[in-house]
Amino acid sequence: MSGRLRASAEDEERAREAVRSILPSQFDDDEADGDVAPGGVDVKQAYEEETSYADGAVKQEHSPGHGVDGGDSLMHCESEASPEELPPDTKDFERPQFYQDSDRENGHSKPKSPPRGNESVEVKVESAQSTLCDVVAAHYNSVPESGLDERSKSRILHLRNFNNWIKSMLIDEYVNKVRDSKPRGSSLKVLDMGCGKGGDLFKWRQGKITHLVCADIAATSIEQCKDRYSDIKQRAQRERNFSPLFSAEFIVANCTKERLRDHYQDVTMQLDLVSCQFAFHYCFESLPQAECMMRNASECLRPGGYFFGSCPNANAIVSRARKAGGKKFGNDVYFVEFETPINDIKPPPIFGAKYNFHMEGVVDCPEFLVHFPTFIRLAEKYNLEFVACEPFNAFFDRKKVEGRGLLGRMQAFETYPPFPGQSMNGPLSQYQHGDAYLKSQTNAQRLGTLSVAEWEATTLYLIFVFQKASS
Ligand SMILES: C[S@@+](CC[C@H](N)C(=O)[O-])C[C@H]1O[C@@H](n2cnc3c(N)ncnc32)[C@H](O)[C@@H]1O
Repeated sequence: MSGRLRASAEDEERAREAVRSILPSQFDDDEADGDVAPGGVDVKQAYEEETSYADGAVKQEHSPGHGVDGGDSLMHCESEASPEELPPDTKDFERPQFYQDSDRENGHSKPKSPPRGNESVEVKVESAQSTLCDVVAAHYNSVPESGLDERSKSRILHLRNFNNWIKSMLIDEYVNKVRDSKPRGSSLKVLDMGCGKGGDLFKWRQGKITHLVCADIAATSIEQCKDRYSDIKQRAQRERNFSPLFSAEFIVANCTKERLRDHYQDVTMQLDLVSCQFAFHYCFESLPQAECMMRNASECLRPGGYFFGSCPNANAIVSRARKAGGKKFGNDVYFVEFETPINDIKPPPIFGAKYNFHMEGVVDCPEFLVHFPTFIRLAEKYNLEFVACEPFNAFFDRKKVEGRGLLGRMQAFETYPPFPGQSMNGPLSQYQHGDAYLKSQTNAQRLGTLSVAEWEATTLYLIFVFQKASS
């Protein structure tokens, strides 16, 4: 038995059977331990196919200031005045090669179809002891709640704000879609899986939803989420134009191992939306965990409802790791480190491809690559149809004009050059793309942008969307 398949023969066969059911003909018993099914496409090839196109994205991400016409491969907005009044950057960015226009449907990007039929997959068989959920939960339980003052001094303040802007725009897009599809005044019920401390509560309020289920493995985070909800509710009651806040329920649960429905106040509840922001990747530790997460996402979602979220882009991670020698890459705001270095001979496993992600005060714990074709196949099994997948830079590109005002209000960008008496969050050398851009403009004196290091960090992520099929 392969060292990576550490389980009893019975467990192993059960897992293989489960994989067969979602990935037909992937396994031939003779070679189940290997990476290649007879006559099939191997996992390495699956990654290569993708990382060959991921290289396009990485080329763009790593070349701020050297874009199509000097300076526009890094996002930015011209700014004449205060950061609150950032006008949009209307320039068109080079599109990553793996989301060519020919792949776009209805304005959304669609990745290559997942490989079908013969392909092999490595199964990491889960056992209760072997999963890292406890480590993840302990990590999030120990992250202190930082105050506004502390957050405003953070090196990654604008990166956090930018990621929040992405979530706001995504939530707004799908709240509006479901609202438009229902009679006026209908309820709008949402599940936030891996809700953390409730960082999205304001966004749900903005979306005027009627009920929210908050679920997270970290009990401390759920307590903080509850407190934040109470604060918002009290403040809402004091407002002049008082409009009632959505009702909410809070669940401490491992979404990769427990059936959430069993915890709902109303087990017959039909959800309109399931959101999973920066949390889905934890379920790719093993196939049973990924299945459990998908079931939780799908089973109470009404036909036509959406499951959407954000997670790390495995293609970008694998590609950058390869370029950096396979083990570790990053910059002064984040790093990713693999225990088993990525190499060209042996591809990462589809489940359990673990790396450690470190970012100041935000994350510092084990994560897992999400093999997107497998994600799509799993979703199909749970009646969720693929709608969209866009790296953050492509999503920004699509939403920047519509979200221009919010970009300013959320201070998602820094103003460059800084106003007298102010300084940039990062070293000035990380804003040279700004100089190049301003030189190319006739009237612009300032622009809104991110440091190169923050841009490299945010372009490690993508958004995904699935829709519940009617049968
Ligand atoms: C990076 S945080 C994101 C929090 C929040 N969604 C946001 O966008 O601010 C990831 C969250 O996923 C949660 N999480 C990780 N593994 C989980 C699991 N197996 N079940 C439920 N929640 C989990 C963590 O506790 C943490 O709160």
